[in-house]
Amino acid sequence: MADAFHPEHAERLEDPARLAALPQAAVVDLLRLHGDETIVDYGAGTGVYTVAVAEAVPDGRVIAVEALARLAEMLRAKITPELTARLQIVETDANTVPESDGVADRVVMVDVLHHLYDQPGALAEVTRLLRPGGLFVVADWGDKERPIGPPIGHVLGLAAALDVIAAMGLAVVESHEPGTLLPNHLAIVAAKS
Ligand SMILES: C[S@@+](CC[C@H](N)C(=O)[O-])C[C@H]1O[C@@H](n2cnc3c(N)ncnc32)[C@H](O)[C@@H]1O
Repeated sequence: MADAFHPEHAERLEDPARLAALPQAAVVDLLRLHGDETIVDYGAGTGVYTVAVAEAVPDGRVIAVEALARLAEMLRAKITPELTARLQIVETDANTVPESDGVADRVVMVDVLHHLYDQPGALAEVTRLLRPGGLFVVADWGDKERPIGPPIGHVLGLAAALDVIAAMGLAVVESHEPGTLLPNHLAIVAAKS
C-alpha cells in the first residue's frame, strides 16, 4: 500500500501551497493540547508541523520520529534554542523508539499513513507508545479530487484509514472526510482505552 517517501522530495513538504491546505494550527487544534503533553510526531519529515506542535506545549515535550537522515537534518535546523530542551529527534527506520510504554499523551501522523514503512510494525509501536486515554491523531491526504497532493490512487480513503484504526484497537473520537473539517485532508482522532 505505502509508497516510500523519496528524500529528494523533501522541499515539497515545505511548499507554501501545502501548508495553506493544511495549516499547522489545524493540526495543533486536532491534538486538543493543554500545554504539558508528551507528543510523538511519527514520520516528522522536515518538521513543518513538529515545530508548531512543540511551540504549543511549553511544559511538555515532542519526540519526532523520522526514518530519513536528510529530512531529520532539515528538522534539526529548525530547532531554536527555546525548543531544544523539549524537542528530541529519534532517527529510525526500524519502528523502535527508545521510550517506555505509555510515554505519549498524543501520537500524530501528518501525511504519513499512506507512506508508512512497515505499517504493522509502525502501528504496533504507536499503540505501545500511547498511554491509556491517549489520542492518536491522523491527518492525511484524502481520496477526493484536489489541486495538490499525491494522486488519489496513492492515498487511503477515510474508510480504509478507519479500518487501520480499528485494527489497532483504538476507539474513534472524531473522523472527518476530506472537504469537511479540512479542505483536502481526512482527519481522525482516536483514543486508546
Ligand atoms: C509525506 S512525509 C510527511 C512528513 C511530515 N509529517 C509532514 O507532514 O510534513 C512522510 C514522512 O514519514 C516518514 N516515515 C514513513 N514511515 C516511517 C516509519 N515507519 N518510521 C519513521 N518515519 C517514517 C518518511 O520518511 C517521511 O518523512
